[in-house]
Amino acid sequence: MKKNTTTGSVSRFLILLLPAIVAVKSSIDIKRSDFPDGFLFGTATSAYQIEGAYLEDGSGPSNWDHFCGNLPNGDNGYIAEDYYHRYMEDIERMHSLGVNAYRFSISWSRVLPKGKFGEVNQAAIIFYSKIIDNILLRGIQPFVTIHHFDYPQELEDRYGGWLSPLMQEDFVYFAEICFKNFADRVKYWATINEPNLFVEMAYVRGTYPPARCSPPYGNCAQGNSDVEPLTAANNMLLAHAKASKLYGEQFKLEVNGMIGIIVHAFMYIPLTDNKEDKEAAKRALAFNVAWILDPVVFGDYPPEMRCYHGNELPNFSSDERALLRDSIDFIGINHYSTFYAKDCIYSSCICNDSSCTKGNDRPLRGFVSTFVERNGVPIGEPTGMIRFFVVPKGMEDIVLYVKDRYHNKAIFVTENGYSSPDNEDKSYQHDVKRINFHKSYLSYLAKATRNGADVRGYFIWTLMDDFEWANGYKTKFGLYRVHLPTLNRIPKLSAGWYRDFLSNASSSDVESSDYILSDEKKYMAY
Ligand code: NOJ
Repeated sequence: MKKNTTTGSVSRFLILLLPAIVAVKSSIDIKRSDFPDGFLFGTATSAYQIEGAYLEDGSGPSNWDHFCGNLPNGDNGYIAEDYYHRYMEDIERMHSLGVNAYRFSISWSRVLPKGKFGEVNQAAIIFYSKIIDNILLRGIQPFVTIHHFDYPQELEDRYGGWLSPLMQEDFVYFAEICFKNFADRVKYWATINEPNLFVEMAYVRGTYPPARCSPPYGNCAQGNSDVEPLTAANNMLLAHAKASKLYGEQFKLEVNGMIGIIVHAFMYIPLTDNKEDKEAAKRALAFNVAWILDPVVFGDYPPEMRCYHGNELPNFSSDERALLRDSIDFIGINHYSTFYAKDCIYSSCICNDSSCTKGNDRPLRGFVSTFVERNGVPIGEPTGMIRFFVVPKGMEDIVLYVKDRYHNKAIFVTENGYSSPDNEDKSYQHDVKRINFHKSYLSYLAKATRNGADVRGYFIWTLMDDFEWANGYKTKFGLYRVHLPTLNRIPKLSAGWYRDFLSNASSSDVESSDYILSDEKKYMAY
């Protein structure tokens, strides 16, 4: 009798586990051929995070160069991964992986050291031209982000950067230079990377330059965390729309190109089954993702935001609404993780530990508190980034949310990646967890495409460990490790897995595969 009970509970246990086992198994089986023909598979980087070459060849100081002196870890991007001097070998690396696309950004302060108040730096034009030519030669499509968090410090000093509408014209001036020089060869353009995340860090929490904020979000010397992020995002949206119009009128037809914007897109699921938390999860998506995407598709902020913000949320004129409406050919989503959402309208949200967000009783957060655990159980496996947990199904959910809300607009997953926890630093090369992360997220992405989402590409963040903004070099997302004293690149197991995945080779036995390219074995001693 006792034995039967045990057997019964074991089988009940296995039945309960079955969906998890199936999920793991199906993630292991993911293949490139599960995605449509012509699907772009690439790696993504950004200029400030890898280039280095500070003030070299006519480059000017950026907002990050100015800010980095304040970072407690003392890190900065002055040398970074020295990609400015090593880009050819990195291009060879990408080629050896077999990617057919490479997403990178153009350093605004390298091209225009003083914004539109100075000359174009021809050395920078030559540098990016060489990158474009060399990747195209290897069958890799350039996917160019015009602005990825860095801009000339001159523009901050002159008029306060993105808080000023003047920044819109400066951005269009920069974008035009990029189009004039590269649009004959570049088909995929993203105007701005993650305006929603940038303004949160720069003007709500004050952890990115220009480091402005106010309590309860943070204690900065200056700033207003309730209003400034809305103003800055408004300027970024209008800058995007003006650049997109220019591209459409003067450059698009050259190579039948596409232009879009990239949004930081976490998924949100209700903390409990009650209807208030379900509404809160929807509001969180509106206040984070639709905040940026509704204006560029429909021409105005989400009704959910209009309803709670009142006068703080800027109004667009009818000309601006027309300019914004349909100003994208694709939506870029950077997806990493999922949060639980809890309602703060009908229930109290006192937040005093690191598992929830401060200031959630405010309109800025849509009166939603976000959590990474429920009843003490984390939402997924932790990673090296606080509040980034592994939740593969979030990929399917966020893609389907975007598909449904924006009438199946073309989508690129412009970033998805795993940062190793600090304690895995010693075994950095044996990054099986990173491989499993990509396989499981990809399997849910494939599911979303089978459900009709028009997903056209997937970019791993990132090619090599880099300067992870305020976290400095401690946080590592790369397929390649960079040994900072020598700047040698060392492939991790995940680099070989990506290569096998892209060539449709079997990679079921990741543990035993020899993924280290022979010419790079010599660096393994580091
Ligand atoms: C988003 C940003 O675009 C990128 O710059 C950053 O390094 C990654 N996410 C990881 O945090």
